[in-house]
Amino acid sequence: MSTERKNILVLFGGGGTEHEISAISSKYVYDCLKKIDIFNPILVEITKEGHWESEGRKSSLNGRILKTPTEQPYIDYVIPVIHGPPGETGEIQSFLQTLDIPYFGPGPESSSICFNKVTTKLWFDTLKIPNTPWIFANKYNELIEQEYIDFFDKNANDVFVKAANQGSSVGCFHVQIKEDLIPKIKEAFNYSDNVLIERTIKGRELEVAVYEIEGEIKASDPGEIICPDGFYTYEEKYSKKSHTDTEVKAQNVTQEQIDLMKSIALKSFKSIGLRHLSRIDFFLSDDGIFLNEINTFPGMTPISMFPQMLEATGLKFEEFLKNNILKDLR
Ligand SMILES: Nc1ncnc2c1ncn2[C@@H]1O[C@H](COP(=O)(O)OP(=O)(O)O)[C@@H](O)[C@H]1O
Ligand SMILES: [Mg+2]
Repeated sequence: MSTERKNILVLFGGGGTEHEISAISSKYVYDCLKKIDIFNPILVEITKEGHWESEGRKSSLNGRILKTPTEQPYIDYVIPVIHGPPGETGEIQSFLQTLDIPYFGPGPESSSICFNKVTTKLWFDTLKIPNTPWIFANKYNELIEQEYIDFFDKNANDVFVKAANQGSSVGCFHVQIKEDLIPKIKEAFNYSDNVLIERTIKGRELEVAVYEIEGEIKASDPGEIICPDGFYTYEEKYSKKSHTDTEVKAQNVTQEQIDLMKSIALKSFKSIGLRHLSRIDFFLSDDGIFLNEINTFPGMTPISMFPQMLEATGLKFEEFLKNNILKDLR
């Protein structure tokens, strides 16, 4: 590798509900890269309408050249700091692969497996990764209302109804009244053609950061989201009025539970073919440990868990980035 500084394109935004969160995360990644003298980070926004803009000026990728009205740098590497579409859905990664540009984070296939909540469940069941009991409804299939009601009855009249392809708790409903079940499934169809119906777990929400360093995949100790209402909604996630607390290292968890969560997290990461990073979310209850979901490009805001859990292992975030980028550029 030459000693010239490497141009790292930091992409953020996109058309999803987490556009603004992605803007905050990208600033964090950009600031970390700025501290590394061999990298020259360049921020580009994908607007909600899908246009590329750098500092408010129209820009585009032409092969590996970023074209802006004032400059045309050669792009060595891309970090798609995008939560939700088109980043966690895998689209941007497919696009970068067609241009043969190396990038940070998992590839298109594992991204889309983890983004679609129904597909994720199919993988978890096949891999025997413990997860909550579930069924799913498809918009174009006959609505088998009795089947959904039977599932509701069998699961203590307490389920979550979730649109398959949303994040940030959008299109996600906690249903405890039988009459609400079918209307909520239909409401979730406004977001996605596939809707997951799963048993509510009364328990704690723990998260593990899985990360690569020196080519080795590692898992952090679990952190905890302490959400008083038991439903970590969009408001609770991002509003200043949130009552939710976080604990970078979860308390009152046995070593056995920690080891089990870490081993499930590592197994999931490897078997789904993830890369570089993921935040893996669990429920811990009296009935055991259940994997809820895998976030392939987790939030990186000042209050986000992934960077904090990573740094709690003793690894600096900029070192984590540098190590993986240099490995990919070799
Ligand atoms: N089966 C469940 N049991 C209990 N709480 C749940 C369940 N599924 C979801 N939740 C609550 O809803 C939140 C959002 O659901 P999640 O599956 O994580 O979707 P998202 O991708 O929107 O974060 C979770 O953080 C949790 O608070
Ligand atoms: Mg979640």
